Amino acid sequence: MSSFSSSFLLSLTQQYGTPLYVYDASLIRERYREMCSWFPYPKTKIFYAMKANYNPTILKILIEEGANIDAVSPAEILLAVKVGFKPHQILYTANMMSNEEIHEVKKLNILFNIGSLSELERYGTLYPHSDVCLRFNPDVVAGHHEKVKTGGKDTKFGILLEDLEKTKTICKQHHLKIIGIHEHTGSGIPQTSEQFQGIVNTLSIIKPENFPDLEFVDFGGGFQIPYHEDEPRADYITFAKKIVEKFQECCRVYGKNLSLYFEPGRYLVAESGTLLVKATTIKLNGTKMIAGVNSGFNHLIRPVLYDSYHKIINLSNPTGTPQLYDVVGNICETGDHFAKDRLISKIEEENILAICDTGAYGYAMGSIYNLRSMPTEIVIEHGKILFHKPALTPPKLIQKIISDHNY
Ligand SMILES: Cc1ncc(COP(=O)(O)O)c(C=O)c1O
Repeated sequence: MSSFSSSFLLSLTQQYGTPLYVYDASLIRERYREMCSWFPYPKTKIFYAMKANYNPTILKILIEEGANIDAVSPAEILLAVKVGFKPHQILYTANMMSNEEIHEVKKLNILFNIGSLSELERYGTLYPHSDVCLRFNPDVVAGHHEKVKTGGKDTKFGILLEDLEKTKTICKQHHLKIIGIHEHTGSGIPQTSEQFQGIVNTLSIIKPENFPDLEFVDFGGGFQIPYHEDEPRADYITFAKKIVEKFQECCRVYGKNLSLYFEPGRYLVAESGTLLVKATTIKLNGTKMIAGVNSGFNHLIRPVLYDSYHKIINLSNPTGTPQLYDVVGNICETGDHFAKDRLISKIEEENILAICDTGAYGYAMGSIYNLRSMPTEIVIEHGKILFHKPALTPPKLIQKIISDHNY
């Protein structure tokens, strides 16, 4: 959770209105430095998975800290380059690429991380003699929700480990130089043992006879944060030590100290973000108390999409008697909620609620569904506003839509 006090957050809502996404830049720096310190291996590099939050000021903070980028679309690459990342600092984790997309990304001089034999074959045909990173499926099913488990045969991601020989044949045919091996087991992985198993499975194929030209191995993201009040923080220091030991053992057999990459998204930015909303309508439906707010799943879809838990604090009445609430949004859909049957200090209309730990996969997954604008965003460091993007008012939103359509 961000270190901002309730009174400071309340003052921000007076100045900038609600709904409002507030990010604590110092916490992003802290998490980045903390993560770097976990790995006792000098050739470790962090590639921020910018899908978690593409806010350009956050990207700039991470450049200053020394991060690299994991991008998943051509526009992500263009934005990363625009804010200052160099092409060699970006890895492109492709996903169902068309040939047009291959050409588009190749022009930008970015290393491809390819996760299917079809894309590899097409890439090799179009650009023989290129360097490439291969994404393997680690054959472990793990993640905070079914929808974000990327390992195992039921998902679309990665080349199956059993297809190793076919992969080598394609690369040989097209003279592709395999310089990286990648795996990503899932997002928000609850048990480090599951994440570790994905790493072990992938390391099993890292041998000079399979990949003689390797420079790095990338173990993806998946580092979880404690969303629940009673959830302990995972012991990533011990975990990182264990990974490094295993990795060094592999490097010894391989005969070279390879670089070790990770691609965290959530861990770096989730806790920095708070979505501040206003209670607009309190409604008693029989015995169910409903607190309606001026935001909805178009601003934070995680509770609806993944049944995710986000702490909610009534900033206006923190010591009020706790009551059970469904906290719901203003989108015209039954499923639109932020919390169900949640104990929160008594909420009254006009109270300000803080929805915590919303810096990852919050704004980035947002939309203007129901033609409700995206919220205002601000990034703050040591009390200074580094970035302020106001929400579009309804007339401005409509103006944009009309002008986009040349109406
Ligand atoms: C390939 C890849 N790398 C990294 C990440 C970041 O995951 P997380 O935010 O859980 O660290 C994802 C997220 O799904 C991913 O698909």
